[in-house]
Amino acid sequence: MQGYCCITEVAALYAWGMRPPHLLLAIESSCDETAAAVLRDGSRLLANVIASQIAIHREYGGIVPELASRHHMTSISPVVRQALEEAGVKPSDIDAVAVTQGPGLVGSLIVGLSFAKAFAFSRNIPFVGVNHVHAHLFSIFLEDEAPSFPYVALVVSGGHTSIYLAEGFDRVRILGQTRDDAAGEAFDKVAKILGLEYPGGPVISRLAARGRPDAFLFPRAKLPDTPLDFSFSGLKTAVLTAVRKLEAEGGVPIEDICASFQEAVVDVLVEKSVAAALRTGVSDIVVAGGVAANSRLREALRQAGDREGLRVLCPGARLCTDNAAMVAIAGYHRLRMGHEDGLDADVYSRMPSFSRGKAAARVS
Ligand code: KG4
Ligand code: ZN
Repeated sequence: MQGYCCITEVAALYAWGMRPPHLLLAIESSCDETAAAVLRDGSRLLANVIASQIAIHREYGGIVPELASRHHMTSISPVVRQALEEAGVKPSDIDAVAVTQGPGLVGSLIVGLSFAKAFAFSRNIPFVGVNHVHAHLFSIFLEDEAPSFPYVALVVSGGHTSIYLAEGFDRVRILGQTRDDAAGEAFDKVAKILGLEYPGGPVISRLAARGRPDAFLFPRAKLPDTPLDFSFSGLKTAVLTAVRKLEAEGGVPIEDICASFQEAVVDVLVEKSVAAALRTGVSDIVVAGGVAANSRLREALRQAGDREGLRVLCPGARLCTDNAAMVAIAGYHRLRMGHEDGLDADVYSRMPSFSRGKAAARVS
């Protein structure tokens, strides 16, 4: 863990009466995982409990928001209790709470936010809302090797595909984003086309390992006007057209389709991340979010990084998909920097809007 919080900074905060939390409870409920984590002194993860609802949503081929909120309701208390037990701490030991405030499914977010508010209110301790996407891009600080600010972060998940310039824990600029589908969404949709299970990423990646990435040449959207933006809808349509044609001809080589589709996604993600790093002159690239668990993406980014003299850092797979540990690290730094939210804090379903290249003034 890198020493990004210097002693003089902590001393200054103490002098102002703001104390970084010793034991922080974090909660995540933005989508289909109910998760809780306990973080000690901003660096030591004592518990990271994740209750996934994938089995519930699988039979519908995607997330059903109403079912997601209901399951968060029944899971949140046991998940938090388990996290406290695993951490070996009592509720009264916790001295701050961090929670995902958005973006995500409103009904699901409300469950986590309400729980966090009630917990903080009953113990008279501070609580802070955290932006889920920013939590993904700071998850790397839970690993032994941390990046140096500023760094380029590729956040690739089921709901987001964006490139950011992270300049500090409360300063994140957007450099590019998807115009249509997120990369994870493309994996999920292609899995559906191929009759594979939800979520599509893990199963496609498994099948792709046995296929030929050059069997089909699927399109890679370049978008010359906004070269750091992404578009995956054309790729999805190209896969659909190819599969329909192959079905009519008598057989679909699923492994080759998976490998060729995955290679097209990986090519674009790698090319644009490297371009962002070269354009901004940074030396570190971080990749985070559910799709960052993809081993071909990690390998291709590392190879490109080696070629260009860039360091590529990926959190471990358990920190890539949704979890509360990343909310803990992002929340810890918000609290350390003096941010705190009131009991009137509300959830938000979409990323707060800010124009391209401008700093997101508030990293919530
Ligand atoms: O970050 P995440 O857990 O949830 C969101 O915030 O969206 O990401 C979930 C997404 C799903 O679309 C899933 O298909 C994708 O991450 N995913 C993968 C892999 N594991 C999960 N995509 C590609 N390869 C994987 N190994
Ligand atoms: Zn996520």
